Amino acid sequence: MNPGRLIGVDVLVVDHPLAQTRLTAMRNAETDSGVFRAALHELTTMVVYEAARAFATEQYPITTPVAPTMGTRLANPPLIVPVLRAGLGMADSALALLPESSMGFVGLARDEATYEPRAYMESLPGDLAGLPVLVLDPMLATGGSLVHCVQLLVDRGATDITICCVLAAPEGVERLRTSGLPVRLITASIDEGLNEKMYIVPGLGDAGDRQFGGM
Ligand code: PRP
Ligand code: URA
Repeated sequence: MNPGRLIGVDVLVVDHPLAQTRLTAMRNAETDSGVFRAALHELTTMVVYEAARAFATEQYPITTPVAPTMGTRLANPPLIVPVLRAGLGMADSALALLPESSMGFVGLARDEATYEPRAYMESLPGDLAGLPVLVLDPMLATGGSLVHCVQLLVDRGATDITICCVLAAPEGVERLRTSGLPVRLITASIDEGLNEKMYIVPGLGDAGDRQFGGM
């Protein structure tokens, strides 16, 4: 089965038709916030589903109504880390697919003048050694926010980090790649690039504002 387009070793584009219809709803400027959030929920399910293909499983004994057999469970359910605000809209869908997981939070806001991320919140376990981490943020633009987030995780010992996003700019993908951080990226699209305000083109606008309104 083809899960999507593999770009390089560590970047997977989920180009399934149902993923692309949800992405189109999110891109459309006429889509209201309720429909936008619903499309993000559904698209997150598809992106996380593909991310989870790489997760290790283990067998354990169960009994069906008919006979004993072996069942499958995740060997090491990941810590889910939505990046606030926009990643919050992906959290419920990810947790629904991974009910054994726990969740940490990182709050980042991009400075509108420098485009550098400003960290305002973090709630993470102190030791992430041996724990896979699934980072949720719909947008990878310059890459500053996700590099910052991944560095926080690496500083706590994480070595197995997967980012699930919706849209990535080539500039952000390159920044992640050259950071040397141990990360895989799953996205529904790699767009054309960034405009002068560091928005993804054609993109979908401001993913936080489109879900929750302007600040
Ligand atoms: C958005 C988005 C990413 C970041 C991407 O968040 O959710 O976290 O921008 O941009 P970058 O790759 O150039 O760093 P934003 O800072 O707008 O905050 P919000 O989620 O609260 O809207
Ligand atoms: N953050 C967003 O929400 N959208 C972009 O296009 C870039 C950064």
